[in-house]
Amino acid sequence: MDNTEEYLFEFKGYNFERSLVKMHIVGSADDFEIRDDDVFIVTYPKSGTIWTQQILSLIYFEGHRNRTEDIKTIDRAPFFEYNNHNLDFTKIPSPRLFSSHLPYYLVPKGLKNKKAKILYIYRNPKDVLVSFFHYSNWVAILKNSETFENYIKMFLDGQVVGSRWFDHIKGWYEHRHDFNILFMSYEDMKKDLRSAVLKICRFLEKELNEEVVDTVVKEATFQNMKTNPQANYNDIVKQEMGVRNNEGNFLRKGTIGDWKHHFTVEQNERFEKIFQREMKDFPLKFIWDINEE
Ligand code: A3P
Repeated sequence: MDNTEEYLFEFKGYNFERSLVKMHIVGSADDFEIRDDDVFIVTYPKSGTIWTQQILSLIYFEGHRNRTEDIKTIDRAPFFEYNNHNLDFTKIPSPRLFSSHLPYYLVPKGLKNKKAKILYIYRNPKDVLVSFFHYSNWVAILKNSETFENYIKMFLDGQVVGSRWFDHIKGWYEHRHDFNILFMSYEDMKKDLRSAVLKICRFLEKELNEEVVDTVVKEATFQNMKTNPQANYNDIVKQEMGVRNNEGNFLRKGTIGDWKHHFTVEQNERFEKIFQREMKDFPLKFIWDINEE
């Protein structure tokens, strides 16, 4: 029996994680008061959200950079629609950071005055799918999938949190002129983190000295984040979401091209066909391999 509905909550054509979503926030997002200096990190799940949360927390908060304040990234840049720790968003001092997996049409209308900033991080969808497959098999509140083949189907059908990857990225890109938005890829961050941090700083109009940039880059590497409990969600996942096994890690591999270890030739051809059809005329470039220029 298909038990998808146990895990997903559908609203206006978009799937949320059922047990965590705060529908009073989503339902009244239009009226949510956006401040000019708010920053939203927007992603499709498994595209580098936590990484960007860490980078922005490091850029904005000295106490995060030198680890003198014990605040996890999920509370530095809380998820708007999930608000995991029931924060009173109106009481957060400016500048506020938010994270969100929402599609363009469900975010607060105030973002359209183009003052508040949106950082949209995207990742090649084969690696997203692989990351999501492992994550879903680890985290108890997500629908698991015994076979990779079955997960490919769920992903392509949009029967996952975030719905269809294609719709998410295309929707945001097609409506980019409505927002003050910067698109950046996971792969560009991976290949040259320092340049990515500087680009983010320029967009956010944050001038940091060399030394601070060095610290941001150092604290945002995969190895550092994996071992820093402030910067990864292992505790939160285990304590607040539940896990199916003890082998999982929120920071699992952090590479480009892990899809090659999962897709069969036939699965890859099938995926490619759909990708070409859906993404033809889409101008952003995708990097599928760590050695690709
Ligand atoms: P993998 O499962 O491929 O390792 P999100 O935060 O959107 O859920 O994305 C999680 C993915 O981003 C995981 O991918 C995770 O390892 C990767 N990630 C997180 N921090 C990273 C970092 N500093 N460098 C590279 N990848 C990182």
